[in-house]
Parts: sequence; structure tokens; C-alpha cells
Amino acid sequence: MPVSRKPLADAGSIVPSHTHALREHRSMTRPRPGIIGVVLGLAGMTLLVPRAAAQEVCAGCHQEVASAFTNTDHGRTFAADRVYQSASCSNCHAGAAEHISSGASTKPLNPATAQAADANAVCLSCHEQKPTHASWQGSAHQLAGVRCATCHDVHVPHDGTAVTSDRLPGVGATTETCLQCHGAMRAALNARSTHPLRDGQMDCASCHDPHGTTGEKLLRQASVNDLCYSCHQNTRGPFLWEHAPVREDCATCHRPHGSNYPSLLQARITQLCQSCHQQGRHQTLASLPASVWVANKACVNCHSQIHGSNHPSGPLFQR
Ligand code: HEC
Ligand code: HEC
Ligand code: HEC
Ligand code: HEC
Ligand code: HEC
Ligand code: HEC
Ligand code: HEC
Ligand code: HEC
Ligand code: HEC
Ligand code: HEC
Repeated sequence: MPVSRKPLADAGSIVPSHTHALREHRSMTRPRPGIIGVVLGLAGMTLLVPRAAAQEVCAGCHQEVASAFTNTDHGRTFAADRVYQSASCSNCHAGAAEHISSGASTKPLNPATAQAADANAVCLSCHEQKPTHASWQGSAHQLAGVRCATCHDVHVPHDGTAVTSDRLPGVGATTETCLQCHGAMRAALNARSTHPLRDGQMDCASCHDPHGTTGEKLLRQASVNDLCYSCHQNTRGPFLWEHAPVREDCATCHRPHGSNYPSLLQARITQLCQSCHQQGRHQTLASLPASVWVANKACVNCHSQIHGSNHPSGPLFQR
């Protein structure tokens, strides 16, 4: 079901620039003429056979696939950009020459089913130089043998919407793609308090870079807090009165993927605060139902500036 993605007020960096890909491809590795040369040579053509003619040969038997390909970013770029004038089907389907000369009794490489290392080498032959793939080697996904083609169906033209996941087919498809393997996350997304993933305002890739990062857990920023600050700037401070755990790790109190407590909290507020503040200057009688200690926002009824305060008399985060 298509969903619209609203621009977000407090979340300027949610949507990575749609244009960065266009900028970056200038710095990509040139397609390896070796592969094409061998393939086309065996197919009885010369190195200088234009891309269009090479695709024609394949189109003879794979007409639907070949004509759909011309509308993909690859197809369009191969057709329009001189750097890729000799790039063609066989750049991703090594062994295509034998495939043709054997009358299809041998199959060419299919990046969706080949050994992960071989499959990904095909894609990386052009994409490795992109800054976005600098951390792929050694990333959790690379080590686990996840293929580029599991997430990217390059034969399906995307719908062209300028949203995060427009390189995956279908708006909102990124989250669904991730959940295919990370099914345990689905429960969190259906919790009472969540980030707006279900309506497609955000997706898993808003916080994670599936291609690898220099920090932990494929997070887009160096630390959990830097990640949260990138959208929740009002919690960054600096504050006159800092609340120590906020500076340390937002995830001490919040579950980024979802929680059945309000505001993505790890626990009921009273419990959460009392896990560190057992004895206050005021004795908190959290066991009394409907008391000011537990009702409504509980401790935060009074200590409302829980992330820090800039008020001269705010050391207790009450203002
Ligand atoms: C003479 C007809 C013919 C030509 C020309 C041809 N193919 Fe094929 N191709 C086939 C047949 C038949 C299959 C097997 C389909 C099947 O098993 O479902 C196939 C399968 C494939 C597959 C799937 C392999 C897999 O793992 O399932 C790919 C990819 C492929 N061809 C790419 C190409 C490319 C690229 C070219 C051009 C360089 C090309 N083909 C030219 C007939 C052809
Ligand atoms: C950028 C890399 C790339 C290029 C270029 C490319 N393909 Fe593919 N092709 C793939 C990937 C990845 C798959 C696996 C798709 C999947 O099943 O997810 C695939 C699958 C296929 C299949 C099997 C389809 C099926 O439904 O089983 C055929 C046939 C095929 N490609 C033919 C072609 C032809 C013909 C061209 C040129 C017109 C071409 N490919 C260009 C990457 C590419
Ligand atoms: C011959 C070089 C070449 C190869 C091989 C190649 N790409 Fe690309 N790819 C490009 C170019 C050129 C673009 C155009 C957009 C850009 O400049 O980023 C592109 C764009 C993309 C995009 C963004 C646009 C879109 O299509 O949605 C994705 C995703 C992508 N490639 C994935 C792959 C995957 C996965 C493979 C391996 C199956 C692969 N590429 C193989 C050159 C290549
Ligand atoms: C786990 C899923 C997943 C895997 C595996 C994956 N990608 Fe992506 N890719 C995405 C998502 C989601 C986006 C869009 C968000 C973004 O820009 O990071 C994307 C964006 C891209 C883009 C366009 C933006 C850019 O960075 O230039 C390219 C090109 C690309 N991927 C290529 C690849 C290649 C090559 C591989 C394998 C080395 C790969 N991807 C592996 C999910 C994946
Ligand atoms: C093909 C299956 C597959 C897909 C699709 C997939 N992942 Fe993964 N992912 C894995 C495996 C396997 C691991 C490593 C084992 C683990 O930690 O569970 C992993 C690990 C991770 C980790 C933990 C990294 C770490 O350092 O511990 C994160 C975060 C992650 N994936 C996010 C994503 C996101 C976001 C997407 C969608 C863009 C996605 N994954 C899509 C299979 C997948
Ligand atoms: C708002 C940001 C955010 C979003 C959106 C998000 N994550 Fe995460 N994710 C995090 C943070 C922060 C961590 C590391 C802290 C932690 O362990 O809780 C993490 C950790 C993970 C891990 C590693 C878990 C572990 O226990 O090591 C996986 C896997 C993961 N996320 C997958 C996903 C998937 C799949 C989605 C989409 C359904 C997603 N994330 C959406 C912020 C996010
Ligand atoms: C990519 C931007 C982005 C990142 C990164 C991000 N958030 Fe959010 N966050 C949002 C948006 C958008 C909302 C929904 C705001 C709204 O509905 O007004 C939200 C809402 C929240 C809420 C309120 C939830 C509720 O039920 O009211 C909390 C708490 C929160 N985020 C904490 C975090 C924490 C902690 C991190 C870091 C792990 C984080 N966020 C990272 C964009 C982001
Ligand atoms: C000591 C526990 C604690 C820590 C640590 C913490 N928070 Fe919160 N946060 C709360 C509580 C309690 C609420 C609910 C406040 C309310 O309902 O008025 C909340 C609410 C929020 C909200 C939603 C309401 C709002 O104020 O916009 C966001 C967003 C948020 N926190 C982000 C963060 C970020 C980002 C960090 C890390 C920099 C962080 N929090 C660290 C306790 C904490
Ligand atoms: C992970 C532990 C932790 C959690 C959870 C936590 N705090 Fe704190 N809090 C601290 C620390 C550490 C200080 C600084 C204490 C100091 O400097 O002596 C502090 C300081 C305070 C202060 C300032 C008074 C003082 O003693 O300095 C108030 C008020 C406060 N917290 C309220 C709360 C409330 C309300 C919650 C629940 C929303 C909460 N805290 C959750 C660790 C925590
Ligand atoms: C009705 C308002 C109110 C509520 C509700 C409230 N507090 Fe307080 N809190 C105060 C006031 C006022 C002070 C200052 C007391 C003083 O100076 O004697 C204070 C002081 C504190 C202090 C710092 C004093 C100390 O112990 O060193 C902490 C920590 C604290 N509260 C934690 C909590 C926690 C945890 C809860 C929830 C269980 C909570 N408060 C609920 C009003 C409240």
C-alpha cells in the first residue's frame, strides 16, 4: 500500500539527499572492460560493440527483462553516460558469453543466488569507490554473507519518489526488506510507542546504514546519542544543569525500536527513575495508587525538564 511521507519538523536529516547518488557516481570505478571484452569476444563481437547491441543479443531471448531494464537507473545511466557506454547486461551476469554460445545450457552468474562474495564483487566492481560503501567490508552484513541483491532488485524500476528508500522497489519497502531477516523487530514496531515507521515517515535506514558504518550496530552516527541528537536537537544541550544519564546514553531510558510504555521508555516512569533514585529528599511513595508519584507523568509531573535545564533555578529539572 503506498503511503505518503510527510516532511518532518524536528528531523532535518531523516531524508538523505536524493541527489548524492548522482553526485557520487562520478567517482565510481569504471566498469571493468575485461569482463565485457571476454564476454562480447566469445559472443563473436568485438570490444567496441556498443551497449545497445550487446543488450539486443540478450533481449532476443529475455525480451521482458531487457525492456524493463531500460527504465531502471542502471539502464538509463548506461544509456546516457559516456563513462558507461560499454556497460551492459554482462557486467552483472558474468559468464553470459558461455550462456549464449552454449544455447543457454550453462547459466550466467545471478547476483541474487551466487555465492555472496562473488555476487557482491559484481556490484562492488562499480560501487566500491562510493563513500557510502567504504565500510561494507567487515560490516555485520558483509560478514554474514548478505547479498546486495537481496535488498536491491535492480530489474525493478523504482517509483522515483524522493524518499529514503526510493532505491528499493516500492515506498516503505525498506522496513519490510529488513524485517524479512530481522523478524524479531516486528513486535517492537507494533508496540504502543514507536518511531513513525509504520506510516513510512521513517524506516530502518533512517537510523542504520545497511552498507556498514564506522560505529557500532550499523548506526548512522558515531554513537547512540549522536544519532538521537541528529533529529532531537533540543535534547543535545548544552544545559546549565545536565542530567548525567541523558549525556551518557539515551537508550538507558528509551527503547529506540518501540515500547509499550509511553515515549519509548524502558519502564514505567516511577520504576525507571527509582532504578537510580531510591531515596529522594522527598520519600516517594510510589506504591500508593493514583498519587502524584505515579499518576499521569509521575516523577515528570514535577521534574519536567528531564533531559536538562537551562533555568538558573533548574538543578532539579523542575523548570
Ligand atoms: C538463446 C536464448 C538466450 C539468450 C540469447 C540469452 N539467454 Fe539467458 N537464459 C536463456 C534460458 C533458456 C535461460 C534459462 C531460463 C530458466 O531456466 O528459467 C536463461 C537464463 C538466464 C539467467 C538466469 C540464470 C539463473 O541463475 O537462473 C540470466 C541471468 C540470463 N539468462 C542472462 C542472460 C544475458 C545477460 C544474456 C545476454 C548476454 C542472455 N541471458 C542471453 C536463454 C537465453
Ligand atoms: C546492475 C546489475 C545488473 C544488470 C546490469 C543486469 N542485471 Fe539481470 N539481474 C541482476 C540481478 C541482481 C538479478 C537477480 C534478481 C532477483 O532475482 O532478485 C538479475 C536477474 C536476471 C535474470 C533472471 C530473472 C528472473 O526473473 O529469474 C535475467 C534473465 C536477467 N537478469 C537478464 C538481464 C538482462 C537481459 C540484462 C540486460 C538487459 C540484465 N539482466 C542486466 C542484475 C543485473
Ligand atoms: C557497470 C557498473 C555497475 C555495476 C556492475 C553495478 N552498478 Fe549499480 N549503479 C551504477 C550506476 C552508473 C548507477 C547510476 C546511479 C548512480 O550514479 O549512483 C547505479 C545505481 C545503483 C543504485 C541506485 C539506483 C537504483 O537503481 O535504484 C543501486 C541500488 C545499485 N546501483 C545497486 C547495484 C547492485 C545491487 C549491483 C550488483 C547486482 C550493481 N548496482 C552493479 C553502476 C553499476
Ligand atoms: C540490508 C539491505 C541492503 C544491502 C545488503 C545493501 N543495500 Fe544498498 N541500500 C539499501 C537501502 C535501504 C538504501 C537506501 C538508503 C540509503 O541511501 O542508505 C540503499 C542504497 C543504495 C545505493 C544508493 C545510494 C548510495 O549509497 O549511493 C546504492 C548504490 C546501493 N545501495 C548499493 C548497494 C551495494 C553495491 C550493495 C552490496 C555491496 C548494497 N547496496 C547492499 C539497502 C541495502
Ligand atoms: C538477508 C537477511 C538480512 C537482511 C535483509 C537484513 N539484515 Fe541486518 N543482519 C543480518 C544478519 C545475518 C546480521 C548479523 C547477525 C545478527 O546480528 O543478527 C545482521 C545484523 C544487523 C544489525 C546488527 C549489526 C551489529 O553490528 O550488531 C543491524 C543493525 C542490522 N542488521 C540492520 C539491518 C537493516 C536496517 C536492514 C534493512 C535495511 C537489514 N539489517 C536487512 C541479516 C539481514
Ligand atoms: C530511531 C532509530 C532507529 C530505528 C528507526 C531503528 N533502529 Fe535499530 N537500533 C537503533 C539503536 C540506537 C540501536 C543500538 C542500541 C540498542 O542496542 O538498543 C539499534 C540496534 C539494532 C540492532 C542490533 C540489536 C542488538 O541487540 O544488537 C538491530 C538488528 C536493529 N537495530 C535492526 C533494526 C531494524 C530491522 C529496524 C527497522 C525495523 C531498526 N533497527 C530501526 C536505532 C534504530
Ligand atoms: C531520523 C530522525 C530520528 C532519529 C535518528 C531519532 N528519532 Fe526519535 N523521533 C523521530 C520522529 C520523527 C519522531 C516522532 C515525532 C512526532 O511524532 O512528533 C520521534 C519520536 C521520538 C520519541 C517520542 C515517542 C512517542 O511515543 O512519543 C522519543 C522518546 C524518541 N523519538 C527518542 C529517540 C531516541 C532515544 C533516539 C536515538 C536512539 C531517536 N529518537 C532517534 C525522529 C528520529
Ligand atoms: C533519565 C531517563 C531519560 C534519559 C536518559 C533520556 N530520556 Fe528522553 N524522556 C524521558 C522521559 C521520562 C520522557 C517522558 C517525558 C514526558 O512525558 O514529559 C522522555 C521523553 C523524550 C522524548 C519525547 C518527548 C519530548 O520531550 O520531546 C524524546 C524525543 C526524548 N525523550 C529523547 C531523548 C533523547 C534524544 C535522549 C538522549 C539524548 C533521551 N531522551 C534521554 C527520560 C529520559
Ligand atoms: C541511570 C540512572 C538514572 C536514572 C534512570 C535517572 N536518573 Fe536522575 N540522576 C542520575 C544521576 C547520576 C544524577 C546526578 C546525581 C548527582 O550529581 O549526585 C541524577 C540527578 C537527578 C536530579 C537532580 C538532583 C540530584 O540529585 O542531582 C533529579 C531531580 C533527577 N535525577 C530526577 C530523575 C527522574 C525524575 C528520573 C526519571 C525520569 C531520573 N532522574 C532517572 C541518574 C539517573
Ligand atoms: C509533586 C512534585 C514532585 C514529584 C511528583 C516528584 N518530585 Fe522529586 N522533588 C520535588 C521537589 C519539590 C524536590 C526538592 C525537595 C527539597 O528540596 O526538599 C524534589 C527533589 C528530588 C530529587 C533531588 C533531591 C534528592 O533526593 O537529593 C530527586 C532525585 C527527585 N526529586 C526524584 C524524584 C523521583 C524519582 C520522583 C518520582 C518517583 C519524584 N522526584 C517525584 C518534587 C517532586
